[in-house]
Amino acid sequence: MDASALDPVRIDSGALLAGRMAVISGAGRPRGIGRATARLFMAHGARVALLDVDEEETRAAAADLNQTTGTDHARGWACNVADAAACAAAIDGVLAWSGGRLDVLVNNAGLTQKRGVAEISEADYDTITDVVLRGTLLLSQAALPAMRARHGGSIVNVSSMSAQQGGGIFGGAHYCAAKAGVLGLTRAMARELGSEGIRVNAIAPGLVLTDFSRTGRSDDDKHASGAGWPLPRAGHAAEIAGACLFLASDLSSYVTGTTIDVNGGAHMR
Ligand SMILES: NC(=O)c1ccc[n+]([C@@H]2O[C@H](COP(=O)([O-])OP(=O)(O)OC[C@H]3O[C@@H](n4cnc5c(N)ncnc54)[C@H](O)[C@@H]3O)[C@@H](O)[C@H]2O)c1
Repeated sequence: MDASALDPVRIDSGALLAGRMAVISGAGRPRGIGRATARLFMAHGARVALLDVDEEETRAAAADLNQTTGTDHARGWACNVADAAACAAAIDGVLAWSGGRLDVLVNNAGLTQKRGVAEISEADYDTITDVVLRGTLLLSQAALPAMRARHGGSIVNVSSMSAQQGGGIFGGAHYCAAKAGVLGLTRAMARELGSEGIRVNAIAPGLVLTDFSRTGRSDDDKHASGAGWPLPRAGHAAEIAGACLFLASDLSSYVTGTTIDVNGGAHMR
């Protein structure tokens, strides 16, 4: 988008995503970053497609968001992002619903495993990298034709502080490596797709109060981990959603290939 295409009315109106169609992967769980992002996007006028492996949870999430907002602007699709055919089928469904429009993709689906380096099996490696890294590429590939057709779009990839500092929050080396791969993929996609009006950025969350990979750690436990950080607590899913909104909307129209750290100052670059 060039400067003349900026819409100051949209930026000033409080409805930063009015009329936009957003796809968010990994948006099924009630306390997750994906669900919080969907809620915020809807509050800013977007229609939102929620994708998740868990079909029941995804449909329930969409129904809940529609009830909360008094709209029919959310819909759920079952989609394993590690499966190219599933990504293509889900995006086909979204485009049939949206009349061919797709403005924003948030690649948020993820999972982790706690493993020492020596304990990571080949199956573990595949499990993590297939979802985190391959899934980010596959769902982006599925979304690209619709973004290209309108010469515009914003892709937001959810990485992790673990990618930057070699773990220390959740997960093993394979998770850190896959999330670091997401940062490289983000920059390469940004470089290649910018001239087509498509921006690609990443977010690196620190420790967030979700049910991520159902680790069993309590919220108190997570806050205690953050006691020594500049903002001495864990983050909330809505605080990651805020960065997603910035990157998804025209507020960031001259931003591509970057990573926004949302970590309470736990890791400074
Ligand atoms: N919670 C944290 O502290 C934290 C920190 C850094 C990064 N992250 C990242 O944030 C993202 C969201 O995590 P969250 O904390 O909201 O946890 P979450 O478990 O609530 O969300 C992850 C979602 O991804 C879905 N998912 C897993 N495999 C999938 C697949 N193959 N296809 C589609 N969906 C799949 C899960 O069902 C779940 O709904 C993840 O990418 C995670 O790595 C989380």
